[in-house]
Amino acid sequence: MTVLPVPDTAIIVVAAGSGTRLGAGAPKALVGIDERSILRHALDGVFAAAPMQVIVVAPVGFEGEAESELRAAAGDRADLGRVVTGGATRQMSVAAGLGALWGDVTCVLVHDAARALTPAAQIDAVVQAVAGDAGAIPVLPVVDTLKRVEGAAVVGGVDRSELAAAQTPQGFPRLPLEAAYATALSSGIEYTDDAALYAAAGHDVHRIAGSQRAFKITTPADLERARHLLGAVASAPVIPVVGVGTDVHAFGGDGNLWLAGLEWPGEPALSGHSDGDAVAHAIVDALLGAAGLGDIGQHFGTSHPEYAGAHAHVFLARTLELVNEAGWSIGNVSVQFQGNRPRFSARRTEAEQALSSALGGAPVTVSATTTDGLGFPGRGEGISVTAIAVLVPDASRIR
Ligand code: CTP
Ligand code: MG
Repeated sequence: MTVLPVPDTAIIVVAAGSGTRLGAGAPKALVGIDERSILRHALDGVFAAAPMQVIVVAPVGFEGEAESELRAAAGDRADLGRVVTGGATRQMSVAAGLGALWGDVTCVLVHDAARALTPAAQIDAVVQAVAGDAGAIPVLPVVDTLKRVEGAAVVGGVDRSELAAAQTPQGFPRLPLEAAYATALSSGIEYTDDAALYAAAGHDVHRIAGSQRAFKITTPADLERARHLLGAVASAPVIPVVGVGTDVHAFGGDGNLWLAGLEWPGEPALSGHSDGDAVAHAIVDALLGAAGLGDIGQHFGTSHPEYAGAHAHVFLARTLELVNEAGWSIGNVSVQFQGNRPRFSARRTEAEQALSSALGGAPVTVSATTTDGLGFPGRGEGISVTAIAVLVPDASRIR
């Protein structure tokens, strides 16, 4: 049996509100957006983030429903989750969640279930931003022009550059957060959010960039917006893009041949800035080309001495990062090698596995041919490789 490490971070997902403004006739967190409830979507985001203790604060009398949603979202990580009963105000609900923290937890996130479409990356980013005694919250800039009003009269303007709209999750070091909550509960003051409560106890709070998708579902129009966003993602046509890469290397390097991520003892080496692995280089160009990210020279050329002598997995792993960051996943890669040597057939599967594993498991196929004695590959002077890569937009990376 594998013993998983106990996480030192917890997230309290407050879902105990009644949803008066939504007016759906049921507690807001249990209202469906599509076939999944607001709470289920929020928890899907939580479980897509790094593993942490997950405490769901449920409306009184709906603990069983919350438990079902938690189990469905948790998959094989049900051990991380727990449901507690909420209180009369949001602040009391958070306090109920704090009472269920595991002993090992040192960092606590508080998250509104109502921010159902919050990207997992925002949750991870808040955890990263909690440092020392300071809390961290995601915010969005205020885009509207703001006015100060009195009755029907507009009496002045407000400088919006000083303002930001707060989102969740909001993250804090555990002990000062517990102390701040104890003070707030005994004072009877209701704060507008956890950051305000924490700041009132004399602590700093830092901001990180929030996300439009982390908006709070409050009114029926917000629910429509969430439905539209999910529908738009589900029905968007997936248009793949394709890229081609070629590489040619002459024989003449030192040591053993490196090709397709494998060492070939006894085979003549290829010359080149790196190990001369023309198969890997053609794949890199195909992937970068498909993503519109330039070419191998730009990212790995002689101006990057750190790649001198590097083997295929280094180039391919970095290329995978670049295409992922640009919002793409690899559909597949197909490579054709032209040359007399080495003989690929005996090691084809091994080569395909090495290349695939360097590309995060994407399917890679390698074929090989001779050129019937024609041209430089036929004369045994070097080899030529062509690669085609297909990329698909990665919906899970859309922020
Ligand atoms: N919340 C809670 N316990 C409460 C009140 C609110 O856990 N007593 C939670 C809500 O479930 C929600 C989050 O706090 O996820 C933000 O609150 P809000 O959007 O105001 O939700 P509701 O209070 O449910 O909505 P309304 O104010 O319209 O009744
Ligand atoms: Mg409320």
